Amino acid sequence: MRSLSRGALASTLLPVRATRYNTRAMSSREGRPSTAQQAGPATATPAPLACIDGVLTPLAEARIPVSDEGLVRGDGVFEVIRLYDGVPFALERHLARLANSAAGLRLPLDIEAVRADIERILAEPNPGGALLRLIVTRGGRRIAMLEALPVLGESVALASVTYSPTRVLDGVKSLSYAANMLASRLARERGFDEALLVSPHRRVLECPTASFFAVEAGAIVTPPLSERILDSITRALVLELADVDEQPITVDELESIDEAFIASSVAEVMPVRRIDERELPAPGPLTLGLATALRARIAAVTAG
Ligand SMILES: Cc1ncc(COP(=O)(O)O)c(C=O)c1O
Repeated sequence: MRSLSRGALASTLLPVRATRYNTRAMSSREGRPSTAQQAGPATATPAPLACIDGVLTPLAEARIPVSDEGLVRGDGVFEVIRLYDGVPFALERHLARLANSAAGLRLPLDIEAVRADIERILAEPNPGGALLRLIVTRGGRRIAMLEALPVLGESVALASVTYSPTRVLDGVKSLSYAANMLASRLARERGFDEALLVSPHRRVLECPTASFFAVEAGAIVTPPLSERILDSITRALVLELADVDEQPITVDELESIDEAFIASSVAEVMPVRRIDERELPAPGPLTLGLATALRARIAAVTAG
């Protein structure tokens, strides 16, 4: 890992830009009072609601055929979008990735129909702080559903778990997530919160549902996409907000890092307090600065 000497955080972080990603779903909510300052953990429980092929239904009654290859073979694509006071953050980026994943999987996708599903489900009573999960299956089902935000801790302890990305799925956020879920389970069996996926060649990749960043001597580093990690939307935002080196990180190099954090749509920027036996300050100063900058970005975009 390069040990670049960087200036203080203030010079590391670029100005926060209030770019609008979400268009229709967001503008339909512009009349609502702003709770932008609430960006961050929220506790509202959304109405259990799903939209299957354009039809709204209570979640408990939502059905698809069991023969759908989305279920039988994990053949399909998905996205998880965080809602802030009912407003989806980075919606256009998520839709673009969904379309890209579907193209990669040779899966027919009507993105305008997905957009209409989202408008339909978000037109119902405000789900508050929640998650919107989108799924498109090989059987041709379009599913949108609201989920409660998981309880998010203040920091995470990561256990390294050996993992080999499936090359043919590069760039595809597919429904085949059993390996990721197993890695999390293995980490929890060892008393950790989450897995840190490392390649058989001992290179750090990402977490099962988040990207990974380390800080050493003032330099923020994250593995490059060429390590076959997901093109995470939050990772891309962190790269816009700060000066980050995209370069391979070996497990051995984790011995000399000063701080680390994970990033995802659900967890935003989350400090890492431990990696295997190594304790880390959580949050470290650069992590704290980035968490604050990302939250400000989210607040600016979702405020309407
Ligand atoms: C493997 C993996 N890496 C990273 C992420 C974070 O991606 P995003 O920032 O787009 O939520 C996810 C999200 O589910 C993921 O599954």
